[in-house]
Amino acid sequence: MEWGMANRMHRMFQPVSGNSVMVAVDHGYFMGPTRRLENARATIAPLLPYADALGVTRGILRHAVDPAATTPILLRVSGAVTVLKEDLSDEEVVTSMEDALRLNVSAVALSVFVGAPHEHESLLHLSQLVDAGEECGMPVMSITAVGKELEKRDARYLALACRVSAELGARMVKTYYCENFEKVIEGCPVPIVCAGGPKLDTEKAAFELAYGAIQAGAHGLDMGRNIWQSDHPVAMLKALRFIVHEKATVKEALNVLEEEKKAPPVAAKRAASA
Ligand code: R5P
Repeated sequence: MEWGMANRMHRMFQPVSGNSVMVAVDHGYFMGPTRRLENARATIAPLLPYADALGVTRGILRHAVDPAATTPILLRVSGAVTVLKEDLSDEEVVTSMEDALRLNVSAVALSVFVGAPHEHESLLHLSQLVDAGEECGMPVMSITAVGKELEKRDARYLALACRVSAELGARMVKTYYCENFEKVIEGCPVPIVCAGGPKLDTEKAAFELAYGAIQAGAHGLDMGRNIWQSDHPVAMLKALRFIVHEKATVKEALNVLEEEKKAPPVAAKRAASA
């Protein structure tokens, strides 16, 4: 691996655990002002010091992230479809590799829609993005999107989508957690990080997802709503870090969460920094 590519990959994953807790805040690119991400700057600021990387579009990066921040940026570069359309799979690459380099990001991310009407185009976009990325040392993350069909999240489907992504040259893959997740990991030769999906009913359920993913061999999380739609986003993030980096159990993470909840509420901190 070329030095530039290797350096960017090392920025994304922590040296000791080899894992990463990436915080995803890119939902607005097709969902608009998602609940508790309406004011992106206010949501992002308290989380930034505890995120191993931040998943974001260039618009939110420019408007809501302090350029003095040292958190590695995972730049979403696919889009141009919204939730108002039935078929979400018709995405294009909407941000150039030149702009990704200008923004000094550590990796770029694009969704692939395996089995969807625009499967072929999305896989071609991945291949072309990998070509451009390899040219300048930029790792590409493939996101195995499921669109509105959340039931697609089974091991057989996700293993296929992850493997195809790796075969086309993605340096890492983001996918969804499912039963028999180790089958998804087994078949994919590049690091997999796990998304959280819609907010789960309890914090415990989010920790169980994270714990299951790590036990199965995932290299971490790229999680959004289960962190920042929580009433205690920073506490959630710190507890998740404990699972991902220290292999903590769900019970240990719940203890961390309860301890962290005693810290001043994020709402008060947000008000103080507004
Ligand atoms: C979709 O908008 C993105 O790929 C998200 O970054 C991904 O789904 C992770 O966020 P969440 O944990 O909220 O699903």
